[in-house]
Amino acid sequence: MTDPQPAAAGGPLDPASLEAAVAEALAALAAAADLTDLAAVRAAHVDGRSAALVLARQKLGSLPREDRADAGRRLNDALGAVRDAHATRLAELTAERDARVLVEERVDVTMPTRRRHAGARHPLAVLSERLVDTFVAMGYEVAEGPEVEHDWFNFEALNFYPDHPARSEHDTLFVEPAGTGRVLRTHTSPVQVRALLSRPLPVYVVAPGRTYRNDTVDATHSPVFGQLECLAVDEGITMADLRGTLEVFAAELFGTGLTTRLRPSYFPFTEPSAELDVQCFNCRGESARQPCRVCSDEGWIEAGGCGMVDPNVLRAAGIDATRYSGFAFGMGLERAAMMRHGVREIRDFVDGDVRFSLPFGIEG
Ligand code: PHE
Repeated sequence: MTDPQPAAAGGPLDPASLEAAVAEALAALAAAADLTDLAAVRAAHVDGRSAALVLARQKLGSLPREDRADAGRRLNDALGAVRDAHATRLAELTAERDARVLVEERVDVTMPTRRRHAGARHPLAVLSERLVDTFVAMGYEVAEGPEVEHDWFNFEALNFYPDHPARSEHDTLFVEPAGTGRVLRTHTSPVQVRALLSRPLPVYVVAPGRTYRNDTVDATHSPVFGQLECLAVDEGITMADLRGTLEVFAAELFGTGLTTRLRPSYFPFTEPSAELDVQCFNCRGESARQPCRVCSDEGWIEAGGCGMVDPNVLRAAGIDATRYSGFAFGMGLERAAMMRHGVREIRDFVDGDVRFSLPFGIEG
């Protein structure tokens, strides 16, 4: 047993030593700049093994009995002061850290972003691409032509001679200056001639595009409208090829299992010519399903014009019409889209209201 030591001046438990230890601890706590610092200060001055006050407590037992109570009280006061100071500093630094994190990691949810609304594909573009894909899948290539077209391509080479009565049906818009023969193309058929002149035979092309006629706007007419045209010129092409191709097209446009029919018609550039009718997908011509608002009880939907390429057109393009034959088909995009989707008003296609376009899809 160690001899009790007097509470001599200089011992760790004497008032001056404790006061010094407390002062040192308080200074260190005050100097701690952040929570990491504070943890180190705590170990060194508050409750770490080498903290002066912790070491002092170990000496308590070696004091003379009569001195122990006083020294113990002093030590407890000192420890209490240091622990309180630590708790206060801990609260301060924690609050500081929290405030800093709030600022540094702030996300301003009200800040305007660069993100743009995706918008929607134009319904006519969606339909056009879909139909083009159908032809591409059958081996066709996409062909294009200018919207400001020359009379020769738009009419002459398509077997509309200058006074041909069918010209007047086209309500042509002429481009100034007069006499240059430039028109806004009234159909996509001039692309047939351009394709035949610029490509090696055989030619299988699909030509979507914008066309113009001097029509007065109403719910179903617009002076600007879209068409899609296909042309096949090869050896041995017959009307059976046209028929089979149109069946594939009709299935893509209105659904499978619908009957098609060709109704005799007239176009200067096809002979014979026909209108393609597709059985109404809504009532299928069954009176039990009528009245039908899709076909007005006709049972059929007019889907476009077609026929066997007139030999005069082949000749205009320098093609041997005794060796080659072909078929062509053309249709109006707005009309088809209106039938397909029950759109009542053609102006909806040009109003640019995304609420109209969105249901047709965002991507192609
Ligand atoms: N170009 C014709 C029209 O606009 C449609 C058509 C195309 C007819 C191809 C026959 C062949 O009415």
